[in-house]
Amino acid sequence: MNKFYITTPIYYVNSHPHLGHLYTTLVADTVARYKRQRGFETFFLTGTDEHGLNIERAAESKGLSIKEHVDSIVNEFKTAFAPYGLTNDHWIRTTDDYHKRAAQELWRRAKENGYIYKGKYEGLYCANCNEFYTESEAKSGDDGTLNCPTHERPLDRVAEESYFFKLSEFQDRLIELYEKNPNFIRPETRRNEVMSFVRGGLNDLSISRVSVKWGIPVPDDPAHTMYVWFDALSNYITAIGFGNEQFGGQQHFKKLWPADLQLVGKDILRFHTVYWPAFLIAAGLEPPKTVFAHGMWLSGGRKMSKTIGNVIDLAVLQKHFTTDAVRYFCLRDMVFGQDGDFTYEALLDRVNAGLANGLGNLASRTLTMIGRYCDGVVPAPGNADAELTARAGEVRETVEQSVAQFDREFDEYNFSRALDAAWSAIERVDKFISDAKPWDLAKDADKRGSLELVLHTATETLRHLTALLAPVLPNATQEIWEQLGEAGKVNEIAPSALQWGQSTGKRVGEIKPIFPKLDKKKVMDEIKQEEAVSQAARTEENKEQPAQAPAQAAPQPASEAAAAPAYITIDDFAKVELRTGQILTAERIPKADKLLKFTIDLGEAEPRQILAGIAQYYEPEKLIGRKVIVVANLAPRKLRGLESQGMILAASIGEEGRPVLAGFLEEVPNGAKLK
Ligand code: MSP
Repeated sequence: MNKFYITTPIYYVNSHPHLGHLYTTLVADTVARYKRQRGFETFFLTGTDEHGLNIERAAESKGLSIKEHVDSIVNEFKTAFAPYGLTNDHWIRTTDDYHKRAAQELWRRAKENGYIYKGKYEGLYCANCNEFYTESEAKSGDDGTLNCPTHERPLDRVAEESYFFKLSEFQDRLIELYEKNPNFIRPETRRNEVMSFVRGGLNDLSISRVSVKWGIPVPDDPAHTMYVWFDALSNYITAIGFGNEQFGGQQHFKKLWPADLQLVGKDILRFHTVYWPAFLIAAGLEPPKTVFAHGMWLSGGRKMSKTIGNVIDLAVLQKHFTTDAVRYFCLRDMVFGQDGDFTYEALLDRVNAGLANGLGNLASRTLTMIGRYCDGVVPAPGNADAELTARAGEVRETVEQSVAQFDREFDEYNFSRALDAAWSAIERVDKFISDAKPWDLAKDADKRGSLELVLHTATETLRHLTALLAPVLPNATQEIWEQLGEAGKVNEIAPSALQWGQSTGKRVGEIKPIFPKLDKKKVMDEIKQEEAVSQAARTEENKEQPAQAPAQAAPQPASEAAAAPAYITIDDFAKVELRTGQILTAERIPKADKLLKFTIDLGEAEPRQILAGIAQYYEPEKLIGRKVIVVANLAPRKLRGLESQGMILAASIGEEGRPVLAGFLEEVPNGAKLK
């Protein structure tokens, strides 16, 4: 029997699950279902990545023990994924003992083979992406700090003893791997990217930390913990029995490894196509067959991230859309491998056009007519005139071609094209039905044969498409299957095993609507309100949980934090001196793309110089003469070497925190106090 081993990345438990995580998992689930339906012995792995500094810090800032924190987030992932009926064979947690032992075994083998040595690491580290950066890769902040280029938060300076992996010795072997196996990295554009990166030369990699406690101890040197990526990547083999007794241990591992398809987002391509094969080769193991990097779901044009605050909330998504609808949208709307912008409007349009008006309408009109005109029993194809007979034959041909095309595209992971092929058959049969007008044929006893041919052809089309689409729409297809009067589980029936004509004589089941049409305006209004609430909750949470909380910060007991009311006294408020002012000059500051420099008249002897981070939203010249509100007694501070003597007040709007300057509707003199 052919085997198929498919994996998703294991998700960090430093933030909550969102559409991005669900996406990779749904795609993997669909591929796993597809392979199983076609007779492959399939193993589908997903899970959670639970070690690292950032997780340590997230737990501390919540006042939880690390174990309590990771358990609660893992639970959130499992709960958020549960409605989607995922068919993963295992959920790995990197905090599980068997994984830790086996990751140590991988390390030991690489070390015995001479690829790991001890040295000293000095450099910059981002705890959010668990990656080291050079000074030139870091992004300078407005105040001169060196920030992570992805998260735009300050990098930690690290200088400590570390184990190193001899990645520098792998350049030729990796290039050879990519050249000999053109499918190792997909799609092609990503392969080219990685090849040119590797051709540029590789440095040895620091793979242990002494300052991070929450990690897997390095074998024979427990003062060190493993670099999280060494720990995390090894999950793909530890989960299936490498170095432990999972699922029968070594034998199970040998049966499944190398993995057939490792799905990852393009954000973590380098880890999977440079480090991962190098670690494996170093330990004497084979690299996976294919790493496929898909694109990112963007929201408002930017990658979804908790830091930006533009994530799609899975609770909102699940409230309004069936799990099949989300699966269908994810596979059809995003060209696999490219980025796509997620909007609820597009999702609603897809559901209404493709599912309600497309497949759902084909099912309900066909089954209703069989009930009405044929006493609920699928008719044999009747005799009809040559023209109708020819058209019925064309429909059958289109269906057979679509079924074959679907598989060809699916095997190449072109999911949207596979679905286009299936929908072209739906469109073809819809037209066939509309042109033949069975409702008119039913009125004429002489046209009985034609009526039966039309309904038989429509039923066969529906039956074939139902089996074909089972991996994508597991719930809806099972319902249609039963309504067609078919027995068994549709996901266990290979479409190629179906023969045209077998539906004859089947009694159709109770007809229920499969994909009710959604009222776009009503649903959008509801979603907007719910999103605003969940956005506000996230903003609150972000405030409570700064990603860069100092490692030594004392954890605050949860109960105390909850009990403290957020009030201040009038005396507290009186400490803030708010005054009206008028902008006299406004200009940009060279090399600071966020800051504007103002002089503001506060009714004092001299105007004040004040800097504000609003350059991306306001043209400086348009602000001259504008009345503003200024915090006048804020201690002066230097930004980009310039002193700022106060702060201008602005509302912070929407997900990106767009500033809108506060002002007055009536005339006010400069320097008036606000109280
Ligand atoms: N823990 C690492 C992976 C270790 S694998 C050995 C990690 N975790 S993560 O939680 O940040 O998840 C990253 C993965 O989530 C991406 O590679 C992708 O599969 C998925 N996605 C996260 N955001 C996404 C989008 N906005 N769009 C599509 N997929 C996204 O990195």
